[in-house]
Amino acid sequence: MSTGKKIIVTGGAGFIGSHTVVELCKAGFHPVIVDDFSNSEPFIVERLNELCGTTLPFYECDCTDKNAFRKIFEKERPSGIIHFAACKAVGESVAQPLKYYHNNIGSLVVVLELMKDFGVNDLVFSSSCTVYGQPEQVPVSESSPSKQAMSPYGYTKVVCEQIIEDVIASGQALRCVLLRYFNPIGAHPSGRIGELPRGVPNNLIPYITQTAAGQRSSLTIHGNDYSTVDGTCIRDYIHVVDLADAHVKALEWIHSETDEPLREVFNVGTGKGETVLEVVNTFKKISGIDVPYTVGPRRSGDVEQIWASTEKVEQLLGWKARLSLADALRDAWNWQKQLKA
Ligand code: UFG
Repeated sequence: MSTGKKIIVTGGAGFIGSHTVVELCKAGFHPVIVDDFSNSEPFIVERLNELCGTTLPFYECDCTDKNAFRKIFEKERPSGIIHFAACKAVGESVAQPLKYYHNNIGSLVVVLELMKDFGVNDLVFSSSCTVYGQPEQVPVSESSPSKQAMSPYGYTKVVCEQIIEDVIASGQALRCVLLRYFNPIGAHPSGRIGELPRGVPNNLIPYITQTAAGQRSSLTIHGNDYSTVDGTCIRDYIHVVDLADAHVKALEWIHSETDEPLREVFNVGTGKGETVLEVVNTFKKISGIDVPYTVGPRRSGDVEQIWASTEKVEQLLGWKARLSLADALRDAWNWQKQLKA
């Protein structure tokens, strides 16, 4: 069904994008990588060639540069797009909102304009559970209300979801799946690709693995006075390989549906919440390393607890997370160790 289908993957050298390129190849799609290396590294493209056993088409291009991106459409004539390329640091988005509005919203607008010009209809878009804010009830389902965005980054996801709705309402024949990711973690089990945070990591798992590797002296847990079982925040941590597979399932599902315009939203998580302390303890079990930590104040903008209802994604896409938190932490640690070597 997927044989020969060429899919442009923007941000294809990034964390989730690179893992998705591997899963697309495995499923018989032909990914075309577009990345400007603003938050990724060229060696990842080499590693992808190695993992996929072929030289993948690659273009260094900023997706807000419509003229440059147009040339890629002209040359490749894709049948669909997975649009990952975006800035994703919540704190940075507060300090530099225009960077986020320009890149995240601007790149989606360019993608949609080019899709229209070239008659390309199939789109998978990276959204985030950030659109739920602090939910009144957990788990959250796709019909749970969207909340006031907690940051400019979060607001770009809310706006992009709306843009896609408006474009379909205007009559463009889009067939779009929006995937609301929970907390993507882990790395490829081969240890060849993984997350490459620049500078001090904002996110929990790279902070833990860098501390375990001796690059950081101690983890700070941002608050232990929340109303949860041990006082620390709860998140739904999803292995990046499972998440990548959800994109393949989304593309296959789009093709199996009618030719009518389509916009469907799916949560992509495990359906299970874990506290920060549970993550630290699971890391100890898989690595034997007791990561030193101190408890600091709450981090501004953090939601107390959120995890996904996965009923819809299981039923419609036939997708379910297969890997555990322990699998993800083992793979993240394996990746971190080879980075240091
Ligand atoms: N945490 C710590 N110490 C750290 C880093 C994180 O205690 O050094 C805690 C956070 O307070 C939070 C949990 O670990 O409770 C997870 O934090 P992350 O930064 O790893 O992830 P977030 O849930 O804050 O953010 C993720 C994505 C964002 C997205 C957001 C949506 O990284 O892109 O989910 O809720 F916007």
